[in-house]
Amino acid sequence: MAGGAKVDVLTEAQARDELARLAETLRAADLAYHAEDTPRISDAEYDALKQRNAAIEAQFPHLKRDDSPSDRVGAPPAERFEKVRHSQRMLSLGNAFSDAELDAFVAGIRRYLGLDAHAALTFTAEPKIDGVSLALRYVRGRLAQAATRGDGETGENVTANARMLGEIPARLDDAPELLEVRGEVYMAHADFAALNARQSEAGDKTFANPRNAAAGSLRQLDAEVTRARPLRFLAYGWGALSEPLADTQMGALERLGALGFAINPLTRRCASDEELHAAYRDIEQRRATLGYDIDGVVYKIDDLALQDRLGFRSTTPRWAIARKFPAELAWTRLEKIDIQVGRTGTLSPVARLAPVTVGGVVVSNATLHNEDYIAARDAAGNPIRDGKDIREGDWVEVYRAGDVIPKIRDVDLARRPGGAAPFEFPRHCPECGAEAVREVGDAARRCTGGLICPAQAVERLKHFVSRGALDIEGLGAKQVEALYRDGWIAEPADIFTLEARFGSGPRQLRNREGWGEKSAQNLFRAIEASRRVPLHRLIFALGIRHVGESAAALLARHYGSWAAFEGAMDRAEIGQGPEWDSLLSIDGVGSVLAEALITAFHQPAERASIDRLAAEIEIEDAAATGPADSSVAGKTIVFTGTLERMTRAEAKARAEALGARVAGSVSAKTDIVVAGPGAGSKAKKASELGVEVIDEEAWLALARGG
Ligand code: IVH
Repeated sequence: MAGGAKVDVLTEAQARDELARLAETLRAADLAYHAEDTPRISDAEYDALKQRNAAIEAQFPHLKRDDSPSDRVGAPPAERFEKVRHSQRMLSLGNAFSDAELDAFVAGIRRYLGLDAHAALTFTAEPKIDGVSLALRYVRGRLAQAATRGDGETGENVTANARMLGEIPARLDDAPELLEVRGEVYMAHADFAALNARQSEAGDKTFANPRNAAAGSLRQLDAEVTRARPLRFLAYGWGALSEPLADTQMGALERLGALGFAINPLTRRCASDEELHAAYRDIEQRRATLGYDIDGVVYKIDDLALQDRLGFRSTTPRWAIARKFPAELAWTRLEKIDIQVGRTGTLSPVARLAPVTVGGVVVSNATLHNEDYIAARDAAGNPIRDGKDIREGDWVEVYRAGDVIPKIRDVDLARRPGGAAPFEFPRHCPECGAEAVREVGDAARRCTGGLICPAQAVERLKHFVSRGALDIEGLGAKQVEALYRDGWIAEPADIFTLEARFGSGPRQLRNREGWGEKSAQNLFRAIEASRRVPLHRLIFALGIRHVGESAAALLARHYGSWAAFEGAMDRAEIGQGPEWDSLLSIDGVGSVLAEALITAFHQPAERASIDRLAAEIEIEDAAATGPADSSVAGKTIVFTGTLERMTRAEAKARAEALGARVAGSVSAKTDIVVAGPGAGSKAKKASELGVEVIDEEAWLALARGG
């Protein structure tokens, strides 16, 4: 079915029509794939259609559609692997893009550990492989499970495929009873070129870069296909263990090497800041001749006891960082500037670019951040600091920031077409026509249409069902958009009445395009399952400005229940009163966030929408996050004065890991004040309120579970 006329004999009109048809068919196939158990077309047909689409686009680049299927990533086969929950989350690494950022990272570690500014610290340095991460679980020396990273918490079970890799041992001698090895699956340049040559000879799809080839080859439903792919594996770490591998990172890697895993031979120890920088230069110099893609250098604290003390932030370890190589760059023409309206009404300019390859990926859109970024002068004619003066028709230099989101680095003024006018940033929302205003000190211009604005409403719905929020299976951004467009859902509460309204009767979900009996049933079931929602997820799902996942977690922990939270928001006043003070006492909540929260709850239409939602669902109280049996679980602790055995940051992280809340100021709700030397007014206030005050020794005993 992907046949049709040879691409090079198509007329322009035929090509345009066919691209439109392909976009439609592939979109329907994607939808069917995600919403139904039985996709409508086979993987082979799907791939053939995608390939034909790409071939036509290559022949007629100017006809490439905004909604081109080539820009949609996320390989469909994913949904069909069994999901596995990682016993320890697979995290990502923080990034440093310069020597200075690396120095700041090291300085931060010294501060966190309470070391002086020049105290010796040893790190390992090794290349950051540009592949896909894999966790290998060995039980009594036998490979029991292999899982991809997925979202870090849940990955895909690819055990059968992993067994096909020559560099993944099936059995280990002398291994700990339980050993989870983590590392990177990748493809070498030569193997990648040969694979692409074979693929194209056989008329199969070729891969854009070795990373895509590695990911696609590992995630094959038929493990025999994986067997034929030249995949390699380098071990760089571990997850769950029944006994430690060594005392140091380097020692542990050597042990993995002795067990039969490939370890990167460029891994070394760096005992001084100079050695850290030298390792980066050295690895960067070898980059071109390594024979495989790397995108930076990873540094890890060598001493595992220190790694333990440093622990983790929400998604990255404190003891490791990736120093990334500079982003790849490319020049292209900016064809048009579009305005997108976000969930909180922000008008974001987006550059539509003539497609260009940057670091192995075709880029056709780039963010332009905000009004000032593309302007050169403000309304009064004064130059804007950092304004780039970007106009439609300009030649722009594009890079992929952190290798993901394309951005514009530079404009070539010499090539500016005559008559290119400065971009007129709209003063009204392009989606709903409401006035778009800019508050003093705010870089963003925002639509004032609120929930009336269809763009804001649909973005909020998308946020509501997204991963960290309600995460309703079968209800993704695409489905939400379609249901919103047709008026089936307008706000979050409507999701929970969908079955009552469209489960039977004249208009039914199962009869919609892209849906069927089974997928509709599955969705209704998934919605029912989401009716019970933990408090922190709900707070995040509301999509209030500045309230991200970590702030939502802090709020949930502080208020404990929806009733308490909502009551406090009702009573709260901006800038004064006990509820305002209580909000600001949360370590990590500032006045900007507090103001946004109170504003949202006091806005009548928004509040009514929240109430309708709350009436549909059951909200679980926040549980203490740490071990419930720890002696400080659920307690509110304030640290004050100088701590001598650990820094404030470490103490806070310890307390939170044990399930306590850490507050910035003392109130009647405080349970314990840990006061070091020099503690002043807080310790005094604590004694006045009759709050328990302990010293650092007593705190350490508590933290140790004494
Ligand atoms: S350590 C807790 N070492 O980079 C940190 N990661 O952004 C675990 N990667 O998903 C990562 N080479 O797949 C580490 N030598 C290396 C690496 C490496 C590549 C990947 C890894 C991870 C991502 C982190």
